[in-house]
Amino acid sequence: ISKTLPHPRYRLPFAGDIVGLDTAKPVQKEMAMATELGGIYERKIFGHRLVVVSEPELVAEVNDEKYWAKFLALPHRKLRAIGEDGLFTAFNSEPNWHSAHAVLGPAFSKGAMRGYHEAMQESVNELLTSWDSGSGPVDAYDECSKLTFDVIGRCALSHDFGSFRQAVPFADAIARVLHYVNKSSNDVPIIRSVLGRRATRQHDEDLQFIRHTVDSLIEQRMAQPDSSKTSPDLLEHMLSTPDPDTGDRLALENIRNQIITFLIAGNETTASTIAFALHFLSTRPDEMQRIRAEVDAVAPDGTDIEFENVPKLRRTRHVVDETLRLWPAAPGYFRKARERGATSLGGYEVPEGWVFVLLPQLHRSPEWGPEADKFNPDRFATGQASDTNRRIYKPWGTGLRACIGRQFALHEAVLALASIARRYEIRADPGYQLDVREAVTMRPHGVRLSVSRRL
Ligand code: HEM
Repeated sequence: ISKTLPHPRYRLPFAGDIVGLDTAKPVQKEMAMATELGGIYERKIFGHRLVVVSEPELVAEVNDEKYWAKFLALPHRKLRAIGEDGLFTAFNSEPNWHSAHAVLGPAFSKGAMRGYHEAMQESVNELLTSWDSGSGPVDAYDECSKLTFDVIGRCALSHDFGSFRQAVPFADAIARVLHYVNKSSNDVPIIRSVLGRRATRQHDEDLQFIRHTVDSLIEQRMAQPDSSKTSPDLLEHMLSTPDPDTGDRLALENIRNQIITFLIAGNETTASTIAFALHFLSTRPDEMQRIRAEVDAVAPDGTDIEFENVPKLRRTRHVVDETLRLWPAAPGYFRKARERGATSLGGYEVPEGWVFVLLPQLHRSPEWGPEADKFNPDRFATGQASDTNRRIYKPWGTGLRACIGRQFALHEAVLALASIARRYEIRADPGYQLDVREAVTMRPHGVRLSVSRRL
């Protein structure tokens, strides 16, 4: 006999669990609920049910690819209007997912980062130049977002968006479509904002503009193949690599959807992660000092950090790992039992057979020790997060549909943080309390950093 799923105390007969809903910070509200109700509970609003899981054993169970798989819940399905059959929003059964996964896998391997290193370095240098010439504090998230956008532009398309020099209407359009989808995509109808006709028209125009821009960049490339580069960008890779199983090339429309997908899945996530890390470092001079010592050792005299030296920046990497533990930019993922209908999990019946894995809560489970809420990169140095307990650390998702951009994001974040830490003294606004805002990703809001050169 299945037990009844725990649920919020004040459940109304028809409306369900609407008491205390937080439409602005839903993930942080779920974290509070999980603390109160435990590692599995249900939230029901009108007819809509959501089962939230964060207990390590149960998360391990739903991560088992034999019985469970990625589920495209409503937020994904809305994002699909933008990314279509791109990797992130493709259905598990879609043949285009298999082809693109096979074609793009090698282009995102650890070794492939050698080919993107210079482009990442160029973008980081633009950020440094812009901070050198600026006066007054910088907004951490805004700056990181310019950086990550330019990096994807260069690595995917060999295109320089120039975010540090000019307004980029293409970037604004991407930000607007994500904002629109986020507002209109909550699983719970009363949390969904009703956006007016004007916003919808703007959304349609933005989508058209985004597709047109990427299509023209692809056309230009086909008309004028770029043979001057020693290592191909992601576009070149997709145009020239056949699916190893079928021998077919990806369709042009699919290539466009993959590029848009990189801009959706890879930009805000990486920007948030670097910005959260800067926030932590700005309040921890001891950590900042350790990163500096490390980078000074591998690249003395302020010279560029070579590709081979990035993996040597272990402490910087642990800062990134720990940042993703506390504030995983993608706060969770959905899993659905492979067998149709209701299923059982931890002795409970999961009525619709799908669940949401709440990462920030999993990442604070008691297995992380008594101070799970504290920022402490040592956890990753001492092996607390060793391979054997990777089941309590899933910022990149899980299984076949886990993040393909993981090595890319890590390389970029480590390079950026080490370069910034080496060059500047960074001070946070006195008294600033971390304010985590939620859109498609979680991001630090209002982190204003005073930067002054030390080198
Ligand atoms: C998938 C997190 C950076 C491209 C995912 C998933 C997570 C994630 C949790 C799984 C989603 C699910 O199961 O529904 C992150 C984080 C990042 C990051 C935290 C940065 C810190 C990137 C970058 C790129 C990228 C830089 C590309 C340039 C993708 C793609 C998928 C994905 C294409 C879908 C993979 C598939 O289903 O085959 N990411 N990501 N991500 N990510 Fe990332």
